[in-house]
Amino acid sequence: MAGISQDALYADIDLELSWSEQELPQAARTKHVHKLHPYLGKYVPQLVEVFLERYFAPGACVYDPFVGSGTTLVEANAFGADSVGADISVFNCLLSRVKVTQYSLGTLELSLRSTLEEARQAGPLPTNLGGKWLRRWYSKQALGELLRYRAVACARLDDHALDVAKVILSRAARSARLTAHYDLDFPSSPMRQPYFCHKHRRVCTPVGEAAKFLARYTADTVRRIREFDDVRTKRAVEVIHADSRTLDLPMPAHGIITSPPYPGLIDYHEQHRYAYELLELEDRSEVEIGRARRGTSRQALREYVEGMVAVFANASRQLPVGAPVVIVVNDSRGLYPDVLDNAGLRLERSVTRHVNRRTGRRAGQFFESVLVCNVAGRV
Ligand SMILES: C[S@@+](CC[C@H](N)C(=O)[O-])C[C@H]1O[C@@H](n2cnc3c(N)ncnc32)[C@H](O)[C@@H]1O
Repeated sequence: MAGISQDALYADIDLELSWSEQELPQAARTKHVHKLHPYLGKYVPQLVEVFLERYFAPGACVYDPFVGSGTTLVEANAFGADSVGADISVFNCLLSRVKVTQYSLGTLELSLRSTLEEARQAGPLPTNLGGKWLRRWYSKQALGELLRYRAVACARLDDHALDVAKVILSRAARSARLTAHYDLDFPSSPMRQPYFCHKHRRVCTPVGEAAKFLARYTADTVRRIREFDDVRTKRAVEVIHADSRTLDLPMPAHGIITSPPYPGLIDYHEQHRYAYELLELEDRSEVEIGRARRGTSRQALREYVEGMVAVFANASRQLPVGAPVVIVVNDSRGLYPDVLDNAGLRLERSVTRHVNRRTGRRAGQFFESVLVCNVAGRV
């Protein structure tokens, strides 16, 4: 940004999409089910609200080919639109599905509380029932409690409640890892001794148990699902575990709202590794587009562009000509003009959004673009 005057910088900033902390405090950004589980790389729900109001009407069907933690689907449902979301990460699909499923609330709460109580009474399971990775990253007590909760949930819960329990288990597993408080996103090695914590500016002790997190997150999850139930509609929502390059949409969609992965920035499977290990989920990170481990070499960027072209070309073939396609990207490498061209999308408008509220290792302000496109024709 060096050399650009403040006026020039802010000239193409869409103020309706750039909120200050006061205008949009954290509690609003993480309202109801949006905070069921940590997820690095999501966009704020209020952004989706604006896009829905601008480019869609209630009753339409919105598609998100990179559904991630389900932000688009939750907001589309509250807006009164049907929605379809796909993701290559099966954990992200689980999380999205748990957010948008409509539950019998009393039964759900009762069964989750009974699971918690039964697991508490039974006590930790032997840790040799967990794999090597789990034994490395947890204290004996914590892993034993997580394994017990998993066993009780699998034995007593049916599909929908079991999915919710899996998200609670995963969230507790994230908090109970032997990591430093300042290094929760991608910790490199377990922290087994007290350490100086850069976040709290004092000596902190690694977590020794998981039970308190299971209890805390059971209560929080039930509360958040109830809050969303007050604003949700009965519109259809489908979450599909698939590679969006080849997905056939299960119902006709009227447009897209999405935020694709950026090249070489985040490993979307790896950030929830504990969930993959504990829930024994299928790992498809080999086909995750733009994953951090792949880097940003010329070859990696070429593959990224090919991947994005394949996803958007596949989607635009299944959308009506003229359908709105809203893409939120940080295209600092200028890759998207090529992507859009080759995917049969016409750029109508590109606006800049000012983002200044990221925390943790990605703290600081930055800018991202909103590419408002439409389907140009057959590719
Ligand atoms: C930036 S995140 C989306 C975040 C989402 N907007 C939210 O608010 O939670 C990008 C997502 O793309 C997914 N992804 C990467 N490659 C994919 C592919 N080939 N097919 C489908 N999803 C893919 C990743 O797993 C990740 O969840």
